[in-house]
Amino acid sequence: MNNPSRYLITSALPYANGPLHIGHLAGAYLSADVYVRFLRMMDKDVVWVCGSDEHGAAITIKALKENTTPKEIIDKYHTLFEKAFEQMNISFDIYHRTSEPIHHETSQDFFKMLYDKGEFIEKESDQYYDDEAKQFLADRYIKGECPKCGKKDAYGDQCENCGSSLSPTELINPLSTLSGAKPILKSTKHWYLPLDKYENWLKEWISDGTIDGEEYHDPSKWKNHVLGQCKSWLDGGLVPRSMTRDLDWGVDVPEEVQGSEGKKLYVWLDAPIGYISATKQWAQDNGKDWETYWKSDDTALIHFIGKDNIVFHCLIFPAILKAHGGYNLPINVPANQFVNLEGNKISTSKNWAVWVNEYAEIYPDRIDELRYHMIKIMPEQKDSEFTWQSFQDSVNNELVNNLANFVNRVIVLTHKYYDGKVPEFDPNIMFESPYEEDDLAGFHESELLILHDAVHELNQNIRDFNFRSALQMVLKISQNGNQLLQLNEPWKAIKEDEELVKVVMNLSLQIVTVLSVCIRPFLPNASNRMRDQLGLNHDIDNGSLVSMLDQLCEGELLINEGHQIKKATHLFSRIPDEMIETEKAKLVESEEGNEEQSKHIPLKENIEFNDFMKLDFRTATILTAEKVEKTDKLLKLEVDLGFEQRTIVSGIAEHYQTDELPGKQIMVVANLAPKKLRGVMSQGMILLAEDENGKLTFVSAEGSFPNGMVVR
Ligand code: 2FM
Ligand code: ZN
Repeated sequence: MNNPSRYLITSALPYANGPLHIGHLAGAYLSADVYVRFLRMMDKDVVWVCGSDEHGAAITIKALKENTTPKEIIDKYHTLFEKAFEQMNISFDIYHRTSEPIHHETSQDFFKMLYDKGEFIEKESDQYYDDEAKQFLADRYIKGECPKCGKKDAYGDQCENCGSSLSPTELINPLSTLSGAKPILKSTKHWYLPLDKYENWLKEWISDGTIDGEEYHDPSKWKNHVLGQCKSWLDGGLVPRSMTRDLDWGVDVPEEVQGSEGKKLYVWLDAPIGYISATKQWAQDNGKDWETYWKSDDTALIHFIGKDNIVFHCLIFPAILKAHGGYNLPINVPANQFVNLEGNKISTSKNWAVWVNEYAEIYPDRIDELRYHMIKIMPEQKDSEFTWQSFQDSVNNELVNNLANFVNRVIVLTHKYYDGKVPEFDPNIMFESPYEEDDLAGFHESELLILHDAVHELNQNIRDFNFRSALQMVLKISQNGNQLLQLNEPWKAIKEDEELVKVVMNLSLQIVTVLSVCIRPFLPNASNRMRDQLGLNHDIDNGSLVSMLDQLCEGELLINEGHQIKKATHLFSRIPDEMIETEKAKLVESEEGNEEQSKHIPLKENIEFNDFMKLDFRTATILTAEKVEKTDKLLKLEVDLGFEQRTIVSGIAEHYQTDELPGKQIMVVANLAPKKLRGVMSQGMILLAEDENGKLTFVSAEGSFPNGMVVR
């Protein structure tokens, strides 16, 4: 689609189960914010929707962990998200939530339509069930050993260690995370979307951008890693995927569907429909027609996401939309890869992250600095790395030394030489130009045309989702401005060549004005601060780029001769070393905290005093020790309890040699019901302490003591 009449932009709905970190920001939100702000400035009809993803096991697991309800969890994180996005100036047209009734209705209607059209296959299958918790287990509720890399604690849907996507029955030694029990397989009915049925058109649509020869999008505009991931899924063959779950939290399967009781929509069906319900809500609030944004073939739909969501947005959701009928498919899905932090993967559970809310609370005046650096390192094609040192370098070298320095020099010199009035100039005066194309200039128009071309190139980069390159263009414009001053040295020339200074200062002011517009999609606060200094209005969100390009092309000045500018203020200030040290120290602390935590085995639940008094601990001495046949770990011990001798079997063979044991004084639980272990009746248990490496040592009392003493 060459020139769409309108745009519908979506950003992945974040799960409302944990705070936002910088990786989220760079993935689906800052990228879209730059793009949408740009479209608005190009006078395009655009709506940008997002919201909290409030269903699925991600939420119920969090509630379980925090010993609270899913509702409490979603309210907490939805509020935090709204605040974080606002603090970072993320300019959604609507930030919705999937717990809203309009979303439940919309996704149920959607399901019903697919059901009525006969798009689903109903299938009974065996799924894991926790017989203690009396519920079917969502994939995320099952943990076990990864069949691919062998790592323990892989989830039923994915191994976080090797990234493999799994199904619960592939896990080795699966366990329910609800009760710790071994899950059993039990039959249950679900509604499956036969993705295999759509495989052919999906293949054609992904690789050629066409369906049955009709053009839908241009695959040469898609990122390679996105196409690559889709193709590898398609090559692996698609299989029917269940669109419902046995859960007690989520959108109900519509009651018209037979056997719907207790069933909920699969969160990955309901979440992308969240884009539709958010658009409906926005349309209702703004007197618009939501259907034009989803159904007219001159609307461009673009999904901004992180790479973990590619399959859902490029294969599954398009299949769902097409199966339903009447909806547009995305013209692009410019997914970003991941951001790592100081050499490690960002991890919520390990608290290895820079939290957006926290950053914004502590540094409310440095919002654009974080936006700048995250766009600069945006993982557009491959994973990237955030370090606090690189953040400081970016801000100090680029924002302060280049951009802020140029603006400040221009504003200060304009006040100094012309009382803050934009100088008139003689277009025939020659000056040194920073542009290679035009090394000695005397005519403003050509300079303005060069600026026009630079802005045009910047725009093209944004259109192509190359936000990093677009940001570099901003710096280049500012760098050329600095060079213009350096080459012509107005501070020296003012004494002997006033006419030269006028041309140079006028052009510099035009460049600052261009920058105040160009930086807006990236650095909205700085754009306002810059325009304050220029004495220009903030009101440039809609259409300003179009009019600026027209003016530059016509050789018209953007800021008029005689215009009064305002006082210079600081656009950006240097990031001090202390800030970087503080932030780095925070990360180290959280890492050490984690290590501490992982060594520490959580305390068991409290028991009553009477429970404790039921246990009969006694002192004893080992008389003899021998290995239990055919075991590696067990020893058969004869122990003297003073009042009698007993046999006790203990799992200490790997920790003690049999010949070092006779004569050792130990503690025994003497009233443990006897139990046969490998054919030997064991009459008690020996108390052992276990260190973090699993090494066992006898618990013993100080000095020597008679056998059979009561211990309490
Ligand atoms: O990965 C996630 O955080 C999901 N909640 C994204 C959902 S995107 C969309 F489909 F809503
Ligand atoms: Zn693995």
